[in-house]
Amino acid sequence: MSILKIPTAKIFEPLLQPARYKGVYGGRGSGKSHFFGELLVETCQAERGTLAVCIREAQRTLAQSSKRLIEGKIAGLGLGHGFKLFSDKIETPGDGLIIFRGLQDHTADSIKSLEGFRIAWIDEAQSLSARSLALLRPTIRAKDSELWASWNPRRKSDAIDDFLRGRQPDGAVVVKANWRDKILGFGTTDALAGFAAITANLVVSFYFAKRGFENVARIIRR
Ligand SMILES: Nc1ncnc2c1ncn2[C@@H]1O[C@H](COP(=O)(O)OP(=O)(O)O)[C@@H](O)[C@H]1O
Ligand SMILES: [Mg+2]
Repeated sequence: MSILKIPTAKIFEPLLQPARYKGVYGGRGSGKSHFFGELLVETCQAERGTLAVCIREAQRTLAQSSKRLIEGKIAGLGLGHGFKLFSDKIETPGDGLIIFRGLQDHTADSIKSLEGFRIAWIDEAQSLSARSLALLRPTIRAKDSELWASWNPRRKSDAIDDFLRGRQPDGAVVVKANWRDKILGFGTTDALAGFAAITANLVVSFYFAKRGFENVARIIRR
């Protein structure tokens, strides 16, 4: 057994606990997608057999999905041995699975294929239609299942904003990310490489450490 330490900006900390709904909203480049991508990989590593679906409102090709980001996280966290990458899905430890779907293409009938999935992460959720949200909520109902949403707010009337910030359902944990909350270069395969990454890490960790801004999540690996 070993412990995987993943630095997490303090603002995201409440999202490390189980919750029925987890939301992160904020402007472009505030680390929303990276945070959930990392959390998903950590969860699949820590909990064998996790079934997860990454959702967009519209996803014509896999290039429009979160697949590449997740593959980068798997490599960046050094977990490649436990995950198997396919063109349209990722097999995770213990017969788990991550798949990628556009909800626009689903009907009330076809969405049933997602029953049994424990985690559904909707990225760019400002585009999610009210219809898609209404289809998804009762479908993702496995034991301890969680709906995650990351979005860049446009209008209060957008379905996800209305639901998670307006109505604030029971069991929802929602945080606002901003550009300061991302942690550059830690555990990723991002464009930052070699010396630049080390320098950025030093600068950023010093910055965060000074402000008590950084927190470390511990994931037990089995
Ligand atoms: N946890 C992280 N690890 C590494 N890089 C990050 C992390 N969070 C954010 N970044 C950096 O910040 C950029 C924007 O993050 P991203 O998650 O794409 O923001 P958002 O989804 O809010 O638009 C990324 O391209 C990456 O360079
Ligand atoms: Mg994003």
